Amino acid sequence: MYHERAAAVAGEIRKVIPLNREWRALEFGPGTGLLSLLLKDQLKEITLIDSSAGMVKVLNEKIAAEAVENLKVLHLDLEQEDHGDEKYDLIYNLMVLHHVSDVEKIIGKFRDMLNPGGYLAVADLCSEDGSFHGGGFTGHRGFNPETLAAMLVDRGFAGISHKTAYVIDRVMADGSRKQFEVFLMTASLPKPKAGAGSGVS
Ligand SMILES: C[S@@+](CC[C@H](N)C(=O)[O-])C[C@H]1O[C@@H](n2cnc3c(N)ncnc32)[C@H](O)[C@@H]1O
Repeated sequence: MYHERAAAVAGEIRKVIPLNREWRALEFGPGTGLLSLLLKDQLKEITLIDSSAGMVKVLNEKIAAEAVENLKVLHLDLEQEDHGDEKYDLIYNLMVLHHVSDVEKIIGKFRDMLNPGGYLAVADLCSEDGSFHGGGFTGHRGFNPETLAAMLVDRGFAGISHKTAYVIDRVMADGSRKQFEVFLMTASLPKPKAGAGSGVS
């Protein structure tokens, strides 16, 4: 399912965003790196930021085993720490945002890390009843895409669109089946208009 989900999201990203081999990209929360391994040949280089030491180890082993040259891994909690002044043309994440406590803050960080004209792609769960993770989970029960879109507008993003990218079909503890929708939301950071801010009218 993880491979199928990453492939579905990669396919939708390719349809909506004009990926470019000159672009520097950032994946936030790559886990085992499935999505970036699918997108790596259409981008110049990808920085993978994950807060889990275990995931970072798996990623580095995979990169070495597959002799991948354009993926770079950073062990960092992007919610708590900053990642310097690096700028990217594309930032994307899959099934990470619902684990982040302060979503507005992380979206502000994405904006600050993007070049003007850069793209953001967020793939995550649509609002659900909490059964995806079950009791004890302290993150978000998915997102209403319209609410997330409004948050992106507030942080300066434009050209926002979203669609269902994948449906997780899960067998629950009681044997019943349940479907969880995964949306892909894309947005871009407008380029400043020529002459804007000059004060000359
Ligand atoms: C549910 S996994 C998703 C992994 C992968 N994107 C996928 O779809 O298979 C969430 C990942 O985000 C990472 N993560 C969560 N919060 C993070 C943070 N604040 N900074 C960096 N990585 C984070 C976790 O360590 C984990 O690898």
